[in-house]
Amino acid sequence: MTLQGARILVGITGGIAAYKSISLLRALQKRGAEVRAIATPSVSSFVGLETLRAITREEVPVEVFHQDGDAVTDSWTRHIHWGEWADLYVIAPCTAQTIAKIAHGFSDNMLTASVLARRCPLLVCPTMDGEMWDHPATQRNVELLRGDGIHVLEPADGYLASGLIGQGRLPEEAVIVAEVERLLADVERGRDAEEGDVAAHSHGKRSAAPSSLFAGKRVLVTTGPTREHIDDVRYISNPSSGKMGIAMALAAKQAGAYVTLLHGPIESSLLPAMDAIHSFESADELFELVQAHGPGSDVVIMAAAVSDAKPAERRRGKVKKADQEWSLQLAPTPDILAWLGGHKSDTQTLIGFAMESDAKTAREAALAKLKAKNLDAIILNLLREGESGFGIDSNNVELFVGQHQIVGQHQIVGQHQTQSQTHAQQQDPAQLQDPKKHQDPPYRFAGTKLDVALQLVDQLNVSLSGGSPSGDSSPAVPPSNESLSGKSASTKKKS
Ligand SMILES: Cc1cc2nc3c(=O)[nH]c(=O)nc-3n(C[C@H](O)[C@H](O)[C@H](O)COP(=O)(O)O)c2cc1C
Repeated sequence: MTLQGARILVGITGGIAAYKSISLLRALQKRGAEVRAIATPSVSSFVGLETLRAITREEVPVEVFHQDGDAVTDSWTRHIHWGEWADLYVIAPCTAQTIAKIAHGFSDNMLTASVLARRCPLLVCPTMDGEMWDHPATQRNVELLRGDGIHVLEPADGYLASGLIGQGRLPEEAVIVAEVERLLADVERGRDAEEGDVAAHSHGKRSAAPSSLFAGKRVLVTTGPTREHIDDVRYISNPSSGKMGIAMALAAKQAGAYVTLLHGPIESSLLPAMDAIHSFESADELFELVQAHGPGSDVVIMAAAVSDAKPAERRRGKVKKADQEWSLQLAPTPDILAWLGGHKSDTQTLIGFAMESDAKTAREAALAKLKAKNLDAIILNLLREGESGFGIDSNNVELFVGQHQIVGQHQIVGQHQTQSQTHAQQQDPAQLQDPKKHQDPPYRFAGTKLDVALQLVDQLNVSLSGGSPSGDSSPAVPPSNESLSGKSASTKKKS
């Protein structure tokens, strides 16, 4: 992932969401970043500083003045050193109090002092009760922050700790990580411009490989179900939650893409994380949007669960029970994937999903779809109870790349190191990528949908653009002989 080697300072303030910073620190570490934490004095009322120390394996400065028990002798200059050290400073969550202090240049604790001393961009993630967020004083302070060039991530809507519903929640971790990615990419671009392109890329720091399938590219992702109306109150649909497509979109964004998401009738707090969004209801509406946005995209990922059929006639109003025999005449919906395959330019990459319920024929069906629709890759989603399918947060997929070329096996099982995994890591990577040498089963990924999407994007980058793997937590495990019949060695969810 492109966070590899990035130095991120995470500021934590005394809000109810302080506990979420622990997971954020881990998420950033998992993507290869080096993280340090600074906390305000009130944080210890919410989370233990010892936990933060254990995760970052560093001191967690709180007070500007030396405290009894401080291990280091230069504690009084840490606010300067750490501000210089960081590539990016993220304050999540950020209280109304700390926003006010930053807006007015206070330096009364280590966090606020280091904000003044920093040389890197600052991302502030305000989190508070809806009334506090809406208060003119807070809004004034937020404007002052923006005026000073500080990035402010709008809080999300939803249930708040106060029991009320409103705007004030810490955005989903994936949204914060995506924003961190975007800002770091800007930092990198700035450095590249200053230092000269090639030199900056050769230091093993985060960078968007020039051959990347995603970095700097326009990526169109479709997600969610369609609704085909029978009358004004009834429709044919499916239980797709859109979570996998959103995960793919976030993963593409993290890989540096400009992402346009076309989404069906779904609800997600992650939609604002996209660069552009358009909603559709029916397959016809999606087709119109795809015709408008598809041709200009470098990569198209069709993850929407599009209905194959629609009522031949849509009735107006609510059809009365007595009026109908309830037999329904159906007509086919447009084959959007086939249209995309037929209109694909030489430089465009088209990726489809196949959902299958019969393990015996699933791979055959996916490969047939890959060929028939002129796709560059297909992701096979076999319905497995509790592991993959509609609505749940985990997934278990197989990736086929290239026309009928199965290019090796690569199974992701979360963070668990296994003996056989070590064996796989010792395999020659060139062999794993050479379709001629590998005619056996496809790449396989399991875990949370976001993890699966991150691994898929990484692998697609390697397989389709010749880019290099990120080195992120994507442990390769050995080819397993298991079949699609459901005996998966994968873990369910990461801890
Ligand atoms: C249980 C509890 C939850 C709180 N949650 C928030 C919050 O989410 N956002 C906020 O701005 N303040 C919140 N506060 C108030 C802050 O803790 C308080 O303003 C404090 O002075 C913030 O200091 P700091 O910004 O230096 O951490 C909360 C207070 C309590 C007791």
